[in-house]
Amino acid sequence: MSRVRVAPSLLACDLTRVADEVRSVEAGGADLLHFDVMDGHFVPNLTFGPGLCAAVSQITTLPLDVHLMVTNADNLVEPFVHGGASRISVHVEAVTHLHRTLQRIREIGATPGVAINPATPVCALDEVWGMVGFVLVMSVNPGFGGQRLIPGVIDKLGRLRSERDHRAPAVELVVDGGIEPANAQVLRQLGVDILVAGTAVFGAQDRARAIARLRGEERA
Ligand code: DX5
Ligand code: ZN
Repeated sequence: MSRVRVAPSLLACDLTRVADEVRSVEAGGADLLHFDVMDGHFVPNLTFGPGLCAAVSQITTLPLDVHLMVTNADNLVEPFVHGGASRISVHVEAVTHLHRTLQRIREIGATPGVAINPATPVCALDEVWGMVGFVLVMSVNPGFGGQRLIPGVIDKLGRLRSERDHRAPAVELVVDGGIEPANAQVLRQLGVDILVAGTAVFGAQDRARAIARLRGEERA
């Protein structure tokens, strides 16, 4: 089993000190930086735009993993790539012409990913396995940090893992929402490649320790 990667979500950071927060997780061993974009339509909350992404990209060498929880993803893909995003995921529930959108993300030089909500079945990915670099599985309903992982998602991830191994072994499995050391172990055992974690990382004083605990590298 290869080592799981950890992507801290900036949604949970102290926004009065964004630069320090980014540097703290980079120094703490984060593999990616997860950037949650919410539009107040697809999800009830509103967050960050390409301007903040561009600013963050100036102060870190971590790859920026942009999670678009928006209905108008087609308008935002280019501004985010110009703002330094190297990976962009869009929701199957939100995008009308998914094939075109994923193709566009790849054309302009980012890795396309597809995100699915907790109630969206694995078969929603049937036609796109060959087009994406990663699949992001929501383990909470999108819109807010600090929620608890929905237990039924574990079973779904098992099915998704088999499907992935069978159809597109190079596609990474990413899980997002409610991840903490207590449930990270089962996610690692299921073969998840990337854990997105907001509260579990930015809610901890010691970022290196928080990241190591999610990887199962430190006890206690
Ligand atoms: C929720 C976001 C998540 C969120 C995770 O809509 O997509 O990335 O920031 O935060 P925690 O780890 O606090 O659940
Ligand atoms: Zn996210």
